Amino acid sequence: MTKGDLIFEGNEKKVYATDVPDQVIFHYKDVAVAYNNVKRARFKGKGALNNQISAILLNYLNENGLETHYISTLGEKEQLCRMIEIIPLQVVVHNRIAGSLAFRLGVPEGFQHQNTIVDLRYNNDVLDDPFINRDHAVALGLATYQELDGMYNTARRANELLKPLFHKAGIELVDMKLEFGRAADTGAIIISDEISPDTCRLWDEATGERMDKDRFRLDLSCVVENYQKVLDRLNKAIQS
Ligand code: TYD
Repeated sequence: MTKGDLIFEGNEKKVYATDVPDQVIFHYKDVAVAYNNVKRARFKGKGALNNQISAILLNYLNENGLETHYISTLGEKEQLCRMIEIIPLQVVVHNRIAGSLAFRLGVPEGFQHQNTIVDLRYNNDVLDDPFINRDHAVALGLATYQELDGMYNTARRANELLKPLFHKAGIELVDMKLEFGRAADTGAIIISDEISPDTCRLWDEATGERMDKDRFRLDLSCVVENYQKVLDRLNKAIQS
């Protein structure tokens, strides 16, 4: 398999074509961005860590019956993935209130609710990823109601699979953002993009310490060190 042309470059990722039909290479950069690209920094080692963490989590979902774009890991910062057509939606699952949801609902960060909350956002930087509902998504032609039902169900199932895996690692999965795409090979709607400390809130169950991108957003120290802890603990949890 040969690496081909760069077909997409985002803030934190690059995607390359390959000579295999319907397969691409996902490259994780050593860059962090936050607040719709207002805040940006380089973190040596972050790309390699997110590549490994995302591989563990996406592979775990694949093995447990949820389809994702992940195929295999190729190198330190790269993984082989199924090509998809992006659906510009973010499906965000919350197990505990944190971040901007606390402001939206007027409750303290850390508020524990009994149900699982699922939010839908339109992935659009110009509009600052606004919250939308299913009717908006259908009106914009982004997905059908049936496809949205499928994405919500998959997001809830992914949450129910990953929560206990993180718990085994002594980490609470507070929230998680998932993206979906239409697979170029089968047309199925599958989980795409990454699942990592960049796209989840992860709190240490013993200390309550943040182990995710909030360390960067909130100017806490030891961003890479915490991502490394997440990887080490997940590796142990997955092997035991
Ligand atoms: P959400 O509550 O939608 O927004 P905020 O980050 O402002 O609190 O986010 C919940 C989770 O989704 C959090 O772990 C960060 C992640 N997320 C992304 O990965 N990318 C995004 O563009 C957004 C808006 C959130």
